[in-house]
Amino acid sequence: MYKIAVLPGDGIGPEITEQALGVLELAAAKYNLNYTVEEGLIGGAAYDVYGEPFPQETRELVSNCDAVLLGAVGGPQYDQLPVDKRPEKGLLQIRKALGLYANLRPIKCWPQLMDQSPFKNERINGVDLLIVRELIGGAYFGARGTDEVNGELAAFDTIEYTSSQIRRVVRRAFELAKGRRRMLTSVDKANVLDTSRLWRKIVLEEARKFPEVTVNHLYVDNCAMQLCINPGQFDVLVTENMFGDILSDQASVLGASLGMLASASLGDGKALYEPAHGSAPDIAGQGKANPLAAILSVAMLLRITMKSPSAASAVENGVQFALEQGLRTADIYTPGTTLATTESIGNAVKKKI
Ligand code: IPM
Ligand code: MG
Repeated sequence: MYKIAVLPGDGIGPEITEQALGVLELAAAKYNLNYTVEEGLIGGAAYDVYGEPFPQETRELVSNCDAVLLGAVGGPQYDQLPVDKRPEKGLLQIRKALGLYANLRPIKCWPQLMDQSPFKNERINGVDLLIVRELIGGAYFGARGTDEVNGELAAFDTIEYTSSQIRRVVRRAFELAKGRRRMLTSVDKANVLDTSRLWRKIVLEEARKFPEVTVNHLYVDNCAMQLCINPGQFDVLVTENMFGDILSDQASVLGASLGMLASASLGDGKALYEPAHGSAPDIAGQGKANPLAAILSVAMLLRITMKSPSAASAVENGVQFALEQGLRTADIYTPGTTLATTESIGNAVKKKI
């Protein structure tokens, strides 16, 4: 019996999570997977009730579960809060609390969405890459502050990585590459940053343990360009926290839209599954949000936590079916397809399952 903590969060979070949960229920029933669900609050929704974006109640809930399914956090009404109370802080705190050091963001080119992509078809045809982003180190968690330099206001954020922090995520990336096309690209800025030089050293050390995986190193600026001109060259990309944040949004449009990008955040125990997009407050509550990234995150949950590749594939086939039916939210709409609601897309996925 798996225990799933569900944290819908803010903005479009609740409506996409509702569709994702409906899909999970059906897929689990079909493949005889047993689980329980318990809901909690995170982000702005938690701040409104508890005055904290990751309250003690939620901390306890997630420490007693096998996996977390999260919607999205954030909203303009929270923009003026001190940084420690902001919804995004809740997300960073839960990642840290659960030790989720490896964030997997799979990007593939859906044939049905080729015309929606801003890239030429021949450039993205066959793209199937996985970004492995270090998630609980680097500038996001380093020493920071504001001070005064020569009488003017200044601010600083620090990037620091220990060898073991790098090694665990790099090793995870090698293992993943081993099960795929056996190519690993490590992305850094070793021509400038000491943290990147340490990163590269650890990658080279780990590479000796994975002789079957071909490794190469790219500077992050070059990688950003390569993702545009020849994305098909990549299998697994591994990189530090902030580079991974930026490159994954960029790479998501190779697969048409950030609204299609699922993610799994893994540590050595529990896992958290969430769409990589934000809370889209401008369209919240209107049934316009794309639920497919959340639904594809459920597929990752089924595959990784519940260890059911068949159930995961059933969900992915459901997504493909919904796209084949021509159902589209605005972010993936092209003339000739049908503008559909969040719920009707969820229903199409369920129908196929
Ligand atoms: C992401 C998001 C978060 C991040 C924000 C909301 C803190 O952009 O998951 O990529 O930067 O990690
Ligand atoms: Mg991001």
